[in-house]
Amino acid sequence: MRRIGVVTAGGDAPGMNAAIRSIVRAATYHGLEVMGIERGYAGLIEGPVRPLDSRSVSGIINRGGTILRTARCEEMKTSQGIQKAKNTLKNNGIDSLIVIGGDGSFKAASEIHEASRLPIIGVPATIDNDVAGTDTTIGFDTAVNTALFTIDRIRDTATSHERIFVVEVMGRRRGFLALEVGLAEGAEFILIPEVRYNTQDICRKLEQGRRKGKVSEIIVMAEGAGNSATIAEQIRRKTGYDVRLTILGHAQRGGPPTARSRILANQFGAYAVELLLEGARKNMVGMKGRKTVSVDLDYAWKERKDLDMSRYRLAEILSS
Ligand code: F6P
Repeated sequence: MRRIGVVTAGGDAPGMNAAIRSIVRAATYHGLEVMGIERGYAGLIEGPVRPLDSRSVSGIINRGGTILRTARCEEMKTSQGIQKAKNTLKNNGIDSLIVIGGDGSFKAASEIHEASRLPIIGVPATIDNDVAGTDTTIGFDTAVNTALFTIDRIRDTATSHERIFVVEVMGRRRGFLALEVGLAEGAEFILIPEVRYNTQDICRKLEQGRRKGKVSEIIVMAEGAGNSATIAEQIRRKTGYDVRLTILGHAQRGGPPTARSRILANQFGAYAVELLLEGARKNMVGMKGRKTVSVDLDYAWKERKDLDMSRYRLAEILSS
């Protein structure tokens, strides 16, 4: 093994740059070359591909986004796309690949491995934290803190005006981000795709809270838990309280990575290179407790990661 390809795929996440830096510096340390594939899987299909050395990754550990750029690439879901990826890797003399991304990217990575037989390692990076086989993903901690920064400010104005705020955070399929943010914020309600809720019930509890002296409420809602505008309107109509909606959107995907996201990226990147050196064929790096681990890449996208329901119940108890 001499030349590693590295690609960032799917939605970006703060800390992807730190992971690229870690991969390049660790590979250089071990005497290996690194080629950066630009524009996510779109670049794996048609380029461009460029060499990355230690100096080309200077000054990026603190930067959000990805210097390699990324894309949502529909063609990589087809066998034609997989074949083109195989050819791009071959034409650039790349003999192993590290994919920094989420579960969708790992599914395609697994197919590229089947077609090319090249060793492939996944590095989990998504603000959704919805990848099985790892407690946490690069970017998740940053997105949690970015959301909190804004919701703390929303709480101030909500209290001044005695308002209810529905705050929509990202997460179209899973509620990891909403749950973490809601628990850290002391939100009155957390709405996530994994737990059924009833607007009538929410309104009743809101009214009870007001009778007990609450003056403002924050409802943290995952993107995938329903239509936030409809919910806000239903609550306004049923309770007569002043309700506002804030959608945090893509602001949660940018910004400088937190220390946790950077350190995780440093550990994951270097470990991915080590795994290749040890002869791994198709793995994902992960974190279990305080230890880096490796799991089969297919586990990462085939298995459904469990949400910690004890956190959900804790948030419920503490919000009364
Ligand atoms: O997967 C990360 C994520 O930010 C999700 O939380 C969100 O639903 C989705 O990407 C948005 O994707 P896009 O940036 O393509 O609109």
